[in-house]
Amino acid sequence: MTMNRIGLKLGVAIMVLIIVILLSLGLAVDRLFTTFYDAQMKEDTHEIAAHFTTMAASGEDSSQSMIRTFAEFSNVKVYWLYADGRVLTLEGKKEQPSPSFVRKSENRRLLSGHAIEFRFQDGQHNRYYVVGKPVKRDKSTRSAIYIASSMKQIDNSLYRLRGLLILSGLGAFLLALGMILIMSKLLSRPLLQMQHMTGKMAKGDWDARLKIGGRDEIGMLGRSINDLAASLQRYRDTRQAFFSNISHELRTPVTYLQGYTKVLADGMVQSDKEKEQYLSIIYQESVRLERLINDLFDLSKMEEGQIKLTMESLDLKGPMKAALQKVKLKAENKHLSLQVDVHEHVPCIHGDRQRMEQVLLNLLENAIRFTENGTILVQLKKQNNAGVVIVADTGIGIPNEELPFIFERFYRVEKSRARKYGGTGLGLSIVKKYVEIQGGTVHVESTAGVGTTFTLTFPFEEKHEKGGMIS
Ligand SMILES: Nc1ncnc2c1ncn2[C@@H]1O[C@H](COP(=O)(O)OP(=O)(O)OP(=O)(O)O)[C@@H](O)[C@H]1O
Ligand SMILES: [Mg+2]
Repeated sequence: MTMNRIGLKLGVAIMVLIIVILLSLGLAVDRLFTTFYDAQMKEDTHEIAAHFTTMAASGEDSSQSMIRTFAEFSNVKVYWLYADGRVLTLEGKKEQPSPSFVRKSENRRLLSGHAIEFRFQDGQHNRYYVVGKPVKRDKSTRSAIYIASSMKQIDNSLYRLRGLLILSGLGAFLLALGMILIMSKLLSRPLLQMQHMTGKMAKGDWDARLKIGGRDEIGMLGRSINDLAASLQRYRDTRQAFFSNISHELRTPVTYLQGYTKVLADGMVQSDKEKEQYLSIIYQESVRLERLINDLFDLSKMEEGQIKLTMESLDLKGPMKAALQKVKLKAENKHLSLQVDVHEHVPCIHGDRQRMEQVLLNLLENAIRFTENGTILVQLKKQNNAGVVIVADTGIGIPNEELPFIFERFYRVEKSRARKYGGTGLGLSIVKKYVEIQGGTVHVESTAGVGTTFTLTFPFEEKHEKGGMIS
C-alpha cells in the first residue's frame, strides 16, 4: 500500500491522539472500579468485624458457634485471639489462609485495645484484607477477633474488567485505524490527482480536467484548478488567433502598398488620374497600417498592465465635445444628423481625459461607419451615482448572436463587413479595456436593421488624489 505523506502525517497524528485518549480512559475506568471494590470490601469487612466483636463481647457460650455459622455464610475467615496469645481458627466456608499473618506485635496492639487493619498475601498469592478488633467486656480487653476477607472475588472481577477494557480499546483502535486509512485515501486521492494534473499543465497540456464532485475546500480547489486550466487554454487559443489575425491584417495593407508602389515605380500608369488614384490608395493603406500599429501597441501595453493613466477629476462634457468635433465632418459627409443631449449638473468622474476621448471617438466612428442614414445621438446624463454616456445610432445593427463577441480583438460581424467598411475589429476591444481601467462599464444593445446603443457608466468621483498617475 502506498501511503503518501499527508495521509501518513494525518494518520499518525490522529492515531497518537486516539491511543492517548484510549489509555487515559482505560486507566480512569480501572482506577474507578478498583477504588470502588476496595472501599466496598473494607466497609463490609469492618461491618462484619464490628458484628462479631459485639457477639463475642456478650460473653454468651453460644456466641462462638454463632460466629462460626455467620462466618460460613460470608466470605471471611475468623480467628479468635485469646489473651494468652493462643489463636483459635473459626472455619469459614472458603479456603484457609495460613494464620502466619498473625504477628506478636500486632497481637499486643490488639490486646491493648487498638483496632488494626492490613493487607496480606499468602504463599499461593491469595490476597486478604485483614481487620483485627479487640473484644471488650467491662471496659477491659480480654481477647480479640481477626477477620480475614479474601480479595479473590474482587481480583477476579478486576481481571475480567481489565480484559474487557483491553478488548474494547483494541476494537476502538482497529476501527479508528480503518477509518483513518479510508479518510486519508479519500483526502489524498484528489490531491494526488491535482498534483498530476498541474504537472501536466506545467508541461503545456491544458486540455486535462479534474473530475471533482465534493463541495468542500478540496472540491473548491479542484474547481479553481479546472478554471485555471480553462483560462490558460482560452489564453493559448486566443493568442494563436491573435497572431494569425495580426499577420493577416498586416499583410493586406502591405500587399497593397507593395503592388501599387511597384506599378508606379515601373512606370506602368497610363494617366495622371490613374497615378493619383494609386497614390491615394497607398496613402489610405499607410494610414490604415499606422492605425493598426497604434491600436496594437495600445492593446499590448494594456495587456501587460503598463499603460499609464493620468487620472483626474473629469467633466465628461470635455472629452465628449472634443470627440464630436473630430467626427463632425465625417457625419456631415454621410449626411447623418448628430444630436447632442447633455443634461445639466452631471458631477465629475475620476478618469483620464485622453483615453475617454479615444473611447468616445471609437464609438462615434463606429456609429458613423455602420449607419447609412438617420441619426446619431450622443447623450450625457446622471443615473444613480454615476455619469452615463450613451452613443446611439440608427444603423445596420448587430445580430443578437454576435453581441457577446464584439468586444473581442479582431472580431467583426460578418467578415464581409471588413471589406465594405474597412475596420480591423480592434476599436471596441480598446473601448472596453479603457472603460474598465477607468472604473466604468460598457453595455451594448442592438437590433439588426434598427440600430445600436452603447451605454458607458462611470461612478461619480469620490475622494481621489487629483492628477495622480496610476499604472
Ligand atoms: N454602431 C455599430 N453598428 C453596427 N455594428 C457595429 C457597431 N459598432 C461595432 N459594430 C460591429 O462590431 C464590430 C467590431 O467593432 P470594432 O470597433 O471593434 O471594429 P471595427 O470598427 O470593425 O474596426 P476598428 O474600430 O478597429 O477600425 C464591427 O466590425 C462591426 O461589425
Ligand atoms: Mg470601430
